[in-house]
Amino acid sequence: MSVELLRSAGPRVGVILGSGLGSVAESLGVEAAVPYVEVPGLHASTVPGHAGRFVLSRVNGAPLVIAQGRSHLYEGLSAYQITAQVRFLHSLGVTTLLLTNAAGAIHSSYAVGHLMMLSDHLNLTGTTPLLGGPNFHDMTEVYSKRLRDVMRTTAAVADVPLHEGVYAGLLGPQYETPAEVRMLRTLGADAVGMSTVLEAIQARALGIEVAGISTLTNWAAGIGAGTLDHHEVIDIGKSAAAHLEILIRGLMQSVA
Ligand code: HPA
Repeated sequence: MSVELLRSAGPRVGVILGSGLGSVAESLGVEAAVPYVEVPGLHASTVPGHAGRFVLSRVNGAPLVIAQGRSHLYEGLSAYQITAQVRFLHSLGVTTLLLTNAAGAIHSSYAVGHLMMLSDHLNLTGTTPLLGGPNFHDMTEVYSKRLRDVMRTTAAVADVPLHEGVYAGLLGPQYETPAEVRMLRTLGADAVGMSTVLEAIQARALGIEVAGISTLTNWAAGIGAGTLDHHEVIDIGKSAAAHLEILIRGLMQSVA
């Protein structure tokens, strides 16, 4: 299937799936798929667990495009390169974008396995996709209050645990030290990860309405006791994907 077929479906909603969440596209249903290599300017992800394709899905007949996998700054690409996906979705006509990721939990009242809706972020990557000009875009409300209200209501109705907090986006690829996590907590971060913030900045600069969801896959370094075993992590991924699907269906209803 070509990019033109994606475009002609007229999707208004885009979703970028983070680590471990790829199965959400399959469970929503794959009407068609376009590998990133067929899209000029996109870099196929080198990270295991990232499929590297756009999937066309439908919820109650309304089309959405799901990006299964993303590029990261820590792969050695620029902020501009890794946000090509967002510019491509915009060129398809996407006006609402849900960014998802895996993150380490910092806030002590959170629980591993739960989802956190992003209320705001700290861009600690030291860069931005808007470099190169006087792109003084307002970032007062990166994560749409309207979409947060929709997700909060959807979660409450479906009995899905949903935290709300500030996501710190770091360069990576190494995880944080306990001292760094203490610093992040002091700075106001509730969760930490290595993606999302640059895509959110690019999307807002294009006028796209943005929502963000983190899967809290682990406690950030130095927080909480013990370690997770592999089976627990797989179970966490499954319930998180099911919960995310509920939120996506709610968002689709709100933009229909
Ligand atoms: N830190 C940074 N990125 C992450 C983490 C973490 O603890 N967990 C998942 N992605």
